[in-house]
Amino acid sequence: MDLVKVEVLFDRETLKKKVAEMGKQISQDYKGRDLLVVGILKGAFVFMADLIREMEVPVELDFMDVSSYGISTSSSGEVRIVKDLEYSIKDRDVLIVEDIVDTGLTLKYICEILRNRNPRSLKIACLLDKPSRRKTDIHPDYVGYTIPDKFVVGYGLDYAEQYRHYPAVCVLKPAVYEN
Ligand code: XMP
Ligand code: MG
Repeated sequence: MDLVKVEVLFDRETLKKKVAEMGKQISQDYKGRDLLVVGILKGAFVFMADLIREMEVPVELDFMDVSSYGISTSSSGEVRIVKDLEYSIKDRDVLIVEDIVDTGLTLKYICEILRNRNPRSLKIACLLDKPSRRKTDIHPDYVGYTIPDKFVVGYGLDYAEQYRHYPAVCVLKPAVYEN
C-alpha cells in the first residue's frame, strides 16, 4: 500500500472481525431460509467474497453492475444498469451487498427496480455508510462502519479503478485528487 497516497482506516484483521460479526447476524436473521445475495459490481466484490464465507444459511449469488460515478469522487445522481441480474428474484429473499452507501442514489434506484420484480424480501448490507451525505431515504439493514465524509479506497473500493486490491480500507489523501 502506498502510504504517501492513503491512510489506513480499517486494517485487514479489523475488517475480518467485523465481516464475521455481520455474517453471523445475517445467518441468524435468515435462519431456515435460502438467501439470494446480489453483489453490486465492482466495489462490493471483496466484501461480498468475505461476507458469504461467514454465512451459515444456503446462499446463491448474482451480480448487478450500475454506473453512476465515472472517475470523480462525487455522485452525478445519474444511474444506469450496465449489467442486470441473471436470475429471477420473484419470491426470493434478496440481500443486496454494497461497498458503501453515500448519497443513497445508487441504492434507491436499484431497490426500486428490484422491488418491482416482487422479491419475498429485500434488504441491504453495506460495509461502510456515510449518512452525512445522504440525499435519499435509504437505510441499510446491516452496516459495518459508519464513517465521516472522507473518500475511501481499498478492500474493493477504487479511485479511478486504482487501489481496489489494497487489503485495508484507507482514506485517500485529498492531494491525490485535488489539483
Ligand atoms: P451513492 O452516492 O449513490 O454512491 O450512495 C454509492 C457508490 O458511490 C461510490 N462511492 C465511493 N467509492 N470511495 C469509493 O471508492 C468512496 O468514499 C465512495 N463514496 C461513494 C461507491 O461505488 C458506491 O457504490
Ligand atoms: Mg459501488
